[in-house]
Amino acid sequence: MPSSEPHIADALVSLGRPARNEGRHVNMPVELGSTMVFDTLAAFEAARDARYDSGTLYYGRYGNAAVFQLEDLLAKLEHAEGVTLTSSGVAAVSLTLLTFARPGGHILVADHIYGNTRNFCDSVLARMGVEITYFDPMIGADIAGLIRDTTFAVMFEAPGSGTFEVPDIPAIAGAARAAGVPSILDGTWATPIFCQPLTLGVDVVVASMSKYLSGHSDCMMGMIASTAEHAMAIRKTVMAVGDKTGGQEVFLALRGLRTLKIRMEHFERAGLEMAGWLGEQPQVKQMLHPAYESCPGHAFWKRDFSGASGLFSVVFHPCSDAQIRGFVDALHHFGIGVSWGGYESLVLPVTPLRTAGTWTEEGQLVRFNIGLEDVDTLKADLAAALPLLNTASE
Ligand SMILES: Cc1ncc(COP(=O)(O)O)c(C=O)c1O
Repeated sequence: MPSSEPHIADALVSLGRPARNEGRHVNMPVELGSTMVFDTLAAFEAARDARYDSGTLYYGRYGNAAVFQLEDLLAKLEHAEGVTLTSSGVAAVSLTLLTFARPGGHILVADHIYGNTRNFCDSVLARMGVEITYFDPMIGADIAGLIRDTTFAVMFEAPGSGTFEVPDIPAIAGAARAAGVPSILDGTWATPIFCQPLTLGVDVVVASMSKYLSGHSDCMMGMIASTAEHAMAIRKTVMAVGDKTGGQEVFLALRGLRTLKIRMEHFERAGLEMAGWLGEQPQVKQMLHPAYESCPGHAFWKRDFSGASGLFSVVFHPCSDAQIRGFVDALHHFGIGVSWGGYESLVLPVTPLRTAGTWTEEGQLVRFNIGLEDVDTLKADLAAALPLLNTASE
């Protein structure tokens, strides 16, 4: 696996820290506050006029020194010209879509998109009179045929975080850009350690920082990274809505990011080992892990990503719901819960929702998040529970 660019490791250590002076703390302290005061009215007015610029200290809702440090670090990682933090990953997605949405407009959304993105489109955007077309994530450059005069955005995800199809990012982003339509990619799965979508022609990257980026399941946050063209419009929408990250969360995210690279390298290694082992078990029908040929879009993953995170799904041979429930409940080292990307292993049965196509794979889909536990412990846990999935003939 090609390793990520060396400058990422340096940025994770050296950026997002207090300014260089003697006797400084190594980390940004927790910064809390609402009102900021100025010595002169002229200084206040200058800050007010520049309040949307990252780095301007004006009022707590517009950011503070720690927020700006975190935004700068993320911009470096994503090769972005603008980054705005949000209170959650869902807020990052919805506020980006709101930035571009127009009443009576049209949006193209990948059919394997994260469930709450679909929910935002089908509820809030639909109420605004927006028409939504879900498309096959493997459509590639043929997306051009679905773009209308009224299309205001193409929203997709790479890979899908339940079924793991990897779309052709440059083909979709390129077709959108050629038509003058911004493309928005949810890049939560790969993190900038394994993929930098803005370098592949995407206009806006959104991510849940509640997952790998903060990394310890103790922080809710999102981020929106974009080209210069869209950065200010997005920032103004976030500020207009009044979405805001807390000081404690900013501290936790900066702290978590220091170890992002080594965590991702571990998750890749452990995820591949667990997927390899699971793939050999008789109960497993198909491995939906982008590093496996059996995963749709594997060739695009090889071309556009420098690695794989530790989240993947397995299709088990058809069995009863009761068997799946028994299997999941029997695991001791896999927590049952939504989200992922923390230090702990998780398991969750997934029911894919499709409206552009249908999910035709026969069998039960179960998603695994591989954490930092010893892989032998995880294998032993699974080995003890897997026989519960055996059908009568096995
Ligand atoms: C792919 C993806 N994007 C966005 C989100 C939303 O992030 P958050 O939980 O931080 O709102 C999630 C959460 O599960 C996700 O899986």
